[in-house]
Amino acid sequence: MSRGMTGGKTGGVTGGMVIAVDGPAAAGKGTLARRLAAALDFAHLDSGMLYRAVAAKLLQAGADPADPSAAAGIAESLVAADLGRDDLRHEAVSQAASQVAVIPAVRTALLAFQRDFAEHPPGGKKGAVLDGRDIGTVVCPDAAVKFFVTAEVGVRAARRHKELIESGEESIYARVLHDLQDRDARDSAREISPLRAAQDAVRLDSSKLGPEAVFEAAMDLIASKSAS
Ligand code: C5P
Repeated sequence: MSRGMTGGKTGGVTGGMVIAVDGPAAAGKGTLARRLAAALDFAHLDSGMLYRAVAAKLLQAGADPADPSAAAGIAESLVAADLGRDDLRHEAVSQAASQVAVIPAVRTALLAFQRDFAEHPPGGKKGAVLDGRDIGTVVCPDAAVKFFVTAEVGVRAARRHKELIESGEESIYARVLHDLQDRDARDSAREISPLRAAQDAVRLDSSKLGPEAVFEAAMDLIASKSAS
């Protein structure tokens, strides 16, 4: 996938400040990343949407999400409009996204887009917040500030279950918990770019802190980094 520019080394040197937010599913990293981007007037990329878009297109084509050549072909030809599909949050797509995410050629195809976004934030913004699994470790290893947002799996499952119910979808807590555990296992065990906190990432536990306190702690850290 291309934004019409080449990707390169990244960390915020050429494009302003880059903030990396990683963590497992439903830990609150998306909420934190969106709030940081709004508060700082930075561009925001939810990198999970790239993997979800590849998965949704594969499912739509009736292909197997574990088929490396089909998945790589779709990742290489992904266009921005694919990120606007309305089925990207469906549970089948979530599972398939974590299957395509283990395929090295898919990760390579999506890497340049993410780095380019970080280096050249759209809309002339002076920085970028990227959230995902490997932003601080692989995509933007030189990011100025890195967060790793976690929460106990039962708390994450309860949160996701509530979101689904509130959005009018059917949901069974035990199933949501099982699906999250499956995805965590696949995301953590894969050989390439596994879910892992970067050594220099600051850990924030959203089950202990709550979203407001997570945001405040993150903003304090960014302010201290910007001042130094
Ligand atoms: O973050 P989200 O839950 O939307 O991501 C969907 C899936 O995409 C994850 O379970 C993971 O397998 C994959 N992903 C990834 N690397 C990223 C972002 C997402 O492997 N940077």
